[in-house]
Amino acid sequence: MKIFIDSADLDEIQQGYAWDVLDGVTTNPSLLKQAVEKRAKKGEKVQLKDYISRILKVAKGTPVSLEVTEVTADRMIAEAKRLYQLFNPIAGNVYIKIPVNPALDPQESTHFDGIRAIRELTSAGIPVNTTLIFTPEQALLAAKAGAKFLSPFAGRIDDDIRKKANIAFGKLDYFPAGGMEVEGTLLEDNGIFSGVDLVEKCVQIVEQYGFKAEVLAASLRNPRQVREAALVGAHIGTLPFTVLQNMLKHHKTYEGMALFTADVVPEYAQLR
Ligand code: E4P
Repeated sequence: MKIFIDSADLDEIQQGYAWDVLDGVTTNPSLLKQAVEKRAKKGEKVQLKDYISRILKVAKGTPVSLEVTEVTADRMIAEAKRLYQLFNPIAGNVYIKIPVNPALDPQESTHFDGIRAIRELTSAGIPVNTTLIFTPEQALLAAKAGAKFLSPFAGRIDDDIRKKANIAFGKLDYFPAGGMEVEGTLLEDNGIFSGVDLVEKCVQIVEQYGFKAEVLAASLRNPRQVREAALVGAHIGTLPFTVLQNMLKHHKTYEGMALFTADVVPEYAQLR
């Protein structure tokens, strides 16, 4: 599974790339806002164009997703083209994130605007990462429209399933891939039993029909969920910096290190 960092924090992105295990970056408007505010708090005046350009250069050779903020097809297409023309020349690695359905509420008539935008941008040679996918059928339509990446939001589905069942939880809490049973009933959202189940079903559709798209497991909250996304065949997982760090932690690893370092024969370190 390819590993992307889900962050717009330049320090985190630089550190992650220094480890040489990253294959890309995903940003969204909320992550960008957090990153800019963090720098502003430290008294730094952030020039957004320069800041994004620096991210693109650090990630050179790997995709960086930048999200549109408009909510109708024509405006998203215009914004996507503007962003692509402005930023892609810097390192040639821009992907545009388009919501699968940009309507802000069910009464709006713009449900197909995301699909239209994906089709038009793809035809213009602009690679698209489809975001905010919560059902396999949304993924199917985005794949048919030509999206390169399909981003099911695993963590947010788990949140939603727990919320609807009035189960208290913390954002980073593990949710079983096989689903959660309450009083003998498996909780679900329209036949989806967990975020990992959603990812698995998206992968199944992509592979069964030979779509060129890659499933990018998004909204991953903890290492075990990353493991499960990898096991169900997600092509990519995008992870917050802390999840990346936590993937290396195990108490037996620390204990083993303490034992090995205590046992070093002094001459061993001197061997030449
Ligand atoms: C990735 O593309 C998404 O923007 C991100 O994974 C969302 O994660 P969250 O649900 O933890 O905010």
